[in-house]
Amino acid sequence: MIESFAKAAQAKAYAPYSKFKVGAAVRMSGQIFEGANVENASYPLSVCAERNAIANAIIGGATELEEVCVYTDASPPASPCGGCRQVLREFARDPAAVKVVSINGAGERREWTLAHLLPDSFSGSELP
Ligand code: THU
Repeated sequence: MIESFAKAAQAKAYAPYSKFKVGAAVRMSGQIFEGANVENASYPLSVCAERNAIANAIIGGATELEEVCVYTDASPPASPCGGCRQVLREFARDPAAVKVVSINGAGERREWTLAHLLPDSFSGSELP
């Protein structure tokens, strides 16, 4: 289910520079939201698929991250970048309970928890 959203999102990626199209889907507060990477001629301004999915979820009124799926053409399937891990963490009440799956068109699959991908993470609870 979440996999088909991530796959559909990949088709919408704007990645003319890297040619590395990424689709992401997040389940937040029970609903699924899509994101794709959107690159820019000024390369550092490019935004990852996972972050765009989170932005869509927030705009959609969802706040609680439950599951993530990433879809790329990479083999083995690509794991989310460090920056996206931190952004995902922002919306995870319990990172050990958030499943992160990465898949590709060849049917390969990798799976972690967010706590595994970002151990001992920094969160808003550290702030005074
Ligand atoms: N990218 C993502 O969308 N998510 C990641 O977790 C890793 C990288 C994008 C950024 C850029 O558009 C392209 O993949 C190559 O780095």
